[in-house]
Amino acid sequence: MLHPVDPLILDESPPAAAAIAVINAPGLAEAACERSDDVRVFCDDIRDAQQVRRDLLVAHPSELGGVRLAWGHLPKSLAALDEHCCWIQGDTELTFLSGARIRHMNRSMNEVLGRHFTAVNASLGRAKCRVLRAWGPNGLENPWPKLRRRDEVGLVLAAHGDTFDGNRVDAGTRLLLEHLKPEGDTALDLGCGNGVIAATLAQAGLTTSAVDVSWAAVEATRATAEANGLKVAVSWADGLAGYADASFDVIATNPPFHQGIAKESEPTLAMFDDAARVLRPGGQLWCVFNSHLPWRRELVSRVGKTEVVAQNRHFTLTLTRL
Ligand SMILES: C[S@@+](CC[C@H](N)C(=O)[O-])C[C@H]1O[C@@H](n2cnc3c(N)ncnc32)[C@H](O)[C@@H]1O
Repeated sequence: MLHPVDPLILDESPPAAAAIAVINAPGLAEAACERSDDVRVFCDDIRDAQQVRRDLLVAHPSELGGVRLAWGHLPKSLAALDEHCCWIQGDTELTFLSGARIRHMNRSMNEVLGRHFTAVNASLGRAKCRVLRAWGPNGLENPWPKLRRRDEVGLVLAAHGDTFDGNRVDAGTRLLLEHLKPEGDTALDLGCGNGVIAATLAQAGLTTSAVDVSWAAVEATRATAEANGLKVAVSWADGLAGYADASFDVIATNPPFHQGIAKESEPTLAMFDDAARVLRPGGQLWCVFNSHLPWRRELVSRVGKTEVVAQNRHFTLTLTRL
């Protein structure tokens, strides 16, 4: 499906290019094939990747390097934009056209592009969208993933540009880790981000799996596990559909953040339902969330008896037993 910025990106582009990279813009994949025989598509979110012909998807974003033209949707995170710029370096004639809705754009995006390209300017706005044009690549080295030791959790944490909260320990996650007492042999970190929860569970001796819908999370979790000499089985997937019924003793999660309006709640509530399916009888679901969200009530009705283990000004940590 085309995003409103996609026609603008196409109009800004030459009619043909030797090789085209498409980043996080699944709707542009087919249009790229009309302009080049060498099309390389990367999507961070597996749900976007699933919309694209498999033969067009790269196995790893390093394969994007060396294209003449790159198209992308500007990510919310400047770190993600920085990493995208690193991936596509290689051809001295490279042009990068990346766009978004104007209300989601800011000057810092031009600055990030300006570190990687000698020239950056903006298109006129159309359909409430704009495209940033960048050319004259600087060929900077790719520093991603970035690793950092975090003494508060006794782990080295890794992050790609699009990993939730980078290689830091999220405040809600910290509350969860301070109180986590997993019981059993097998554990799952649902929505693993940089893998701090998964690494803690593996360090505690549990056979640990982790899942995230974001490539940047999955690869960061792998790198975190490796940096700490731990084993974690990581999957790039949407929710828990890939896991068998009654297959884990423990699920620990800091679920996707949102404002709590009904429509946005649906994916998290579906995760709770699926957690009930995937947990063994007597299993534990540890969940931390913003205190204004009605998750405790939902956990009681969807999973089982739920106690509040800890609470601070912003976050509530619950433990639900199946
Ligand atoms: C609040 S972050 C927590 C990340 C990490 N566990 C931590 O504590 O820092 C939520 C994570 O859930 C992931 N996520 C969102 N929707 C998902 C889905 N449908 N399936 C799996 N993971 C999902 C996001 O990509 C993000 O990494």
